[in-house]
Amino acid sequence: MWIGLGLVVGAAGLALLTGMLVWHFHLRRDVRVKKVYIGSMGIADQRFVEAYEDPSSQQFKNLALLVSQQLKLIYGKNSELSKYFTGSTVQAFSEGDGGGGGDSVVAYYESEFDVPQLRESSVDEAIASLEPAAESQQGRQGRLLLKPTGALRVNSVTSGALDPRMTKTTFFAMLERAMTSRLNSCCSYNPDFCDFIIRQNQVFMRHFLVGNPFRPKCGYSHDPLSFLSSGNVLLLTLVTGQEKNFPGFRASYSQVPLTAPKCGGKLSGLKGSFSSPFFPSNYPPKTTCVWDIEVPKGNFVKVQFTKFSLSEPGQYSSQCPKDRVEVNGERLCGGKPDSTVVTSRSNKITARFTSDSSYVDQGFTAEFEAFVPTNPCPGKFQCINNLCINSTLRCDGWNDCGDGSDEDNCRCEAAQMKCKNGRCKPKFWQCDGVDDCGDNTDEEDCAKCKPGEFSCRNGRCVAEKKKCDGRDDCGDGSDEAECKKSLVLQQCSQFTYQCRNRLCISKLNPECDGQPDCEDESDEDGCQCGTRPYRSSRIVGGQVSREGEWPWQVSLHIRGTGHVCGASVLSGRWLLTAAHCVQDDGKNKYSQADQWEALLGLHIQSQTNQWTVKRNVKRIVAHPAYDTVKYDNDIALMELDADVPLNQNVWPICLPTATHHFPAGTAAWITGWGATREGGFAATILQKAEVRIINSTVCSGLMDGQITDRMLCAGVLRGGVDACQGDSGGPLSVTDPSGRVFLAGVVSWGDGCARRNKPGIYTRVTKYRSWIKEQTGV
Ligand code: ARG
Repeated sequence: MWIGLGLVVGAAGLALLTGMLVWHFHLRRDVRVKKVYIGSMGIADQRFVEAYEDPSSQQFKNLALLVSQQLKLIYGKNSELSKYFTGSTVQAFSEGDGGGGGDSVVAYYESEFDVPQLRESSVDEAIASLEPAAESQQGRQGRLLLKPTGALRVNSVTSGALDPRMTKTTFFAMLERAMTSRLNSCCSYNPDFCDFIIRQNQVFMRHFLVGNPFRPKCGYSHDPLSFLSSGNVLLLTLVTGQEKNFPGFRASYSQVPLTAPKCGGKLSGLKGSFSSPFFPSNYPPKTTCVWDIEVPKGNFVKVQFTKFSLSEPGQYSSQCPKDRVEVNGERLCGGKPDSTVVTSRSNKITARFTSDSSYVDQGFTAEFEAFVPTNPCPGKFQCINNLCINSTLRCDGWNDCGDGSDEDNCRCEAAQMKCKNGRCKPKFWQCDGVDDCGDNTDEEDCAKCKPGEFSCRNGRCVAEKKKCDGRDDCGDGSDEAECKKSLVLQQCSQFTYQCRNRLCISKLNPECDGQPDCEDESDEDGCQCGTRPYRSSRIVGGQVSREGEWPWQVSLHIRGTGHVCGASVLSGRWLLTAAHCVQDDGKNKYSQADQWEALLGLHIQSQTNQWTVKRNVKRIVAHPAYDTVKYDNDIALMELDADVPLNQNVWPICLPTATHHFPAGTAAWITGWGATREGGFAATILQKAEVRIINSTVCSGLMDGQITDRMLCAGVLRGGVDACQGDSGGPLSVTDPSGRVFLAGVVSWGDGCARRNKPGIYTRVTKYRSWIKEQTGV
């Protein structure tokens, strides 16, 4: 009886397993996804009539039907698209430019496809291939290839994908009359998945005509964002995720006359400035501006572009066939680094800006200045690219010119090494895995291992080809810990990342890098951290930071005293700080939660705004092994008395897993309101400074052996840049290649502040990952 039942249960189990396997390997292939593409179609030989502005009019419906049929024909020519196409809807029409492109009407549409999951990317490609090639390569006739036997003469089709998991709301803004109105919306706005991946909440701007079909914007903006359409219609699509509600946006729109803006002209004097029309908004299409600049005789002119962005598809070469600026015959286009300089060989210079009828960008803003030909950079150093920089920045090991010329031909100091290219770099950057010289000479002849061998972190040498083969050849796992591709390893080591399913993978720092690497994808869980909700774009030796630049930075106040320490936001409930901040000190009972007040989203001390959140502290958990003498385990957690809603200035930083590797030489940022010099006063505005992670052995040598495995050194060994009193508990932030910011350290101690060869010492956060999880659940 029991055996019989066992057999039945066993058989049922086997059937279930088989079923699941079949589903997994076979049926899952049939999982279908809904793909939505939005696009615009330029149509020739159609006169624009007013009724096209009213979607309920018969004319609108008639033309929309034609457009839908036309799209069906176009997709029909492609086997991939025709198979999965389910239908199109037209949302709006606008007047075409009738000029170069020959469009009379532009239709804005959405097409839907029902695609097997595995074919998603080939459908994306098929859609992308519908885009007509750049204007320069193909004349008007070329585009007519798209003309099918239908009734419409199609000039152009542009499209881009929308994520099907989104809900959409479309707004039409028809700027036909001289009116200003308000668009209000109350829609979700998830700032976490922004940027380049079209995944979460975004606002799309589809400009009129062929210009800028998709310009997703998401996150938070501190500065007003403005968009200029290239015609009388601007289509705005709000795409929202399902997870969270955010306040949304408020926008106003107004009419800009079609007549070309007045621009250019004669400029004179010793210095001045000029910009592309409507800067910092986008410049209009089909515009030419000429500035004739003349400075007093005997001088030359220097034009420095503080911002330069004239990018568009088809801008292939230095020939700049599309939108461009010509200065003295030299053509500039695309994106240029801030402070690009052009100089003249006389007291005159001409700058000519031209935009064509397609894509527009932000443009440029520039300053001109007269200079004496014999002395182009009075009191300063002249870079090869003509930039003038402070002479003190010459030969300091940092590339201040942007072209490295301030670091060429330097006489190296005793503590510096000479690179083959003549640059000097601090000796301790040698063999730290980062090419500091620019020609890699600081990383040559480092390995104790022979050529063709990999040097393990435990000092062993193994054949290079054994690296990343899935087997632990070093014995400490380090040959499998820094691989581009992630393999599932047979064995875990102290250097390898462990997925939730307990398996280890070989990729370096795989967590929250935007790519699922674990089979269970657990490496991409809990990644609502380490992004600045919006990007557009003391600390001793630092500089003032921008509001919202460090949304995880907290100011910890003692009631009645004010700022005492820094901390980092881990979640809406938990903060991380230094244990030495919460130790009783005579009559000051710093260990008691009710003495503290946490200020999140603060920028200027004693100046709160709508984004600043003040909270009482409910509980303090200092590390039980904190050593008051050695400062070992200098880490503490603070629980707030109530959850803090995240906002554009309050956002958690990512906690690195125990195996996260921050190699020596990595750039890191320190932030705080601490003293701006040793023995100095605290800062009122949040300061930031860039430092580098320093090799622990080197650091231990400099700090008389006081460095434990749970400490991390970072700084600038020539001195002048460091954390200082009042910065304690604050973050040492490292941006991963994926763009996410991880908490590498907590400001802990130092020998004075910013002294030469005395780096700052930080609590090594990777050592406390499991302790933090146990205490907070974060
Ligand atoms: N212990 C100091 C504080 O309480 C911070 C020291 C950091 N010092 C340094 N040189 N990095 O604020």
